[in-house]
Amino acid sequence: MCGIVGAVAQRNVSQILLEGLSKLEYRGYDSAGICCIDNNQLHCIKSTGKVKNLKEAVKEKSCPGFTGIAHTRWATHGIPSETNAHPHICDNLALVHNGIIENFATLKERLIAEGYNFKSQTDTEVLVCLIHSHLKKASNLLEAFLQALHEVKGSFGLALIDKNDPSTLYAARSGSPLIIGLGIGENFIASDSLALLPVTRRFIYLEENEIAVLTTENVKVYNLDGKKIEKSEIESDLDAESISKGPYRHFMQKEIYEQPQSLQNTLLGRLDKDDISLETVVGIDDSSFKDIDAIQIVACGTSYHAGLVGKYWLEELTNIPTNVEIASEYRYRKAVVRNNSLFITISQSGETADTLASLRLAKQQNYKKSLCICNVNGSSLVRESDYTLFTKAGAEIGVASTKAFTTQLLSILLLALLIGKQKGAISQAQNHEILESIRKLPALTQEFLACDKELATLSEQFSGKHHCLFLGRGVMYPIALEGALKLKEISYIHAEGYAAGELKHGPIALIDKEMPVVVVAPDNSLIDKLISNVEEVRARGALLYVFTTKDTQFKADDQTKRVNLPACPEILQPILFTIPLQLLSYHCAVINGTDVDQPRNLAKSVTVE
Ligand code: G6P
Repeated sequence: MCGIVGAVAQRNVSQILLEGLSKLEYRGYDSAGICCIDNNQLHCIKSTGKVKNLKEAVKEKSCPGFTGIAHTRWATHGIPSETNAHPHICDNLALVHNGIIENFATLKERLIAEGYNFKSQTDTEVLVCLIHSHLKKASNLLEAFLQALHEVKGSFGLALIDKNDPSTLYAARSGSPLIIGLGIGENFIASDSLALLPVTRRFIYLEENEIAVLTTENVKVYNLDGKKIEKSEIESDLDAESISKGPYRHFMQKEIYEQPQSLQNTLLGRLDKDDISLETVVGIDDSSFKDIDAIQIVACGTSYHAGLVGKYWLEELTNIPTNVEIASEYRYRKAVVRNNSLFITISQSGETADTLASLRLAKQQNYKKSLCICNVNGSSLVRESDYTLFTKAGAEIGVASTKAFTTQLLSILLLALLIGKQKGAISQAQNHEILESIRKLPALTQEFLACDKELATLSEQFSGKHHCLFLGRGVMYPIALEGALKLKEISYIHAEGYAAGELKHGPIALIDKEMPVVVVAPDNSLIDKLISNVEEVRARGALLYVFTTKDTQFKADDQTKRVNLPACPEILQPILFTIPLQLLSYHCAVINGTDVDQPRNLAKSVTVE
């Protein structure tokens, strides 16, 4: 969380920094700040709320300077306020920080004893004072920076400037992402390449425990021992256009509508008659999965729900026992790792702190190999995993994940087929049938989007409701969980997903006329079981919204509203039935007047644990 941008150039950088911050707002948006060096003075402006407030403040007060840093915050230490907003200044130094300094309290005590005063409640102000304290004795700022970093525990992405040396920008990474953007006669740093696309497409990824020193002409990277490291440059295939809203009202709406294309991109070059090409998974060969006897999936949030669907598919198509766990739980318990296990992480960003920590833990455990299913090339998970399956959703800006989720699902399905084939667990006929279905997916996705208007009208019945239940069975149960998560994330209606067969064991007590119940009910092998479960709910007076396909036996009446969706192959139902649920949440959020793309208290990339 928190977004950082920095620049060292031969022109005023405040507009570049502010535009960069806007692109990083998905990382946090409770306050923002900027600091530039002009005439050997630090000009610092901060504001609470979104980056647009900071932009207005900068317009009013102006923030000149060819070197600067900026930050958009997701509060960890101290409430969102101007005082707690970054940059934090200590004498000649200004610092922005993404992450948490865990031993800040001890360091603070020591610095107070040394005579430092603190204005804010943040760990970042402690760190900038710590660097300042080392600078008093060190021969230069790089040395002081390194000494300070050796003392801190926790995670950080940092950018530091010194008013006495306006031609240099310092950056460091440990646990929070940071990339360097290479310009001509100017260089940049940011938490995500998206922030820098208007100024460059050439990037260097900082690895863990690396420090960078940037001037207009040079970028030097060091390890924490001060040893110089050679880095290679990567050219991004993203462009600034891909991160604009276009004709859509919100990024989320745009991203929902991009799904036919993003799913097509996930398939691009990967299907070859009845085969999935080996290049689909970077790093594998035709026997990589042959000896795998168990699979452990670890992820957070929406990606975790993708993992839950993956369990159903992997067990069905590969016969390999598969376990799925939330990353923040996995990393702090003693897991029993079976022999020949494959460790899979799923993540849109590739930077989620708990998922990354789980991968690092897994690498010390008895896993045979690690594989990540990820949307961001060059991200930490990608760099640290043995194999990668890119979801190819394109940049996802809306905080609530949509196209990243459906492309994750499709990727897991491809992976299950690939593993199933290598293990000899799937018949040629079944493989052929599934691949034929998959080929139809982008077109079917387009058909499912046609329910948008009906859902916009239906959503009006949800506004004013405070609670909602989502029911599903089998592989549609995780889709019910995801439907509920989406609704609560963006419309702030409390929603829970349940396996429909579990309802009578408690949650049925909640059913009354005020509780809408959304049933995810495609025509599939469990439909009769689901119909019986729904009858139990109907008998208790619930208002039912049944998302189903044409031929199922649900009656529409005063109590039951059917949303009829196109017929589709059973294997694709988790992907396709996600779309009406996304649209339902989207319209409920619009009606409720919430901030759809940046819901309160959330951040897209959670780089703190
Ligand atoms: C945050 C986002 C969610 C996302 C989760 C995991 O909570 O708001 O949308 O599902 O992080 O993120 P990842 O990048 O690992 O998929």
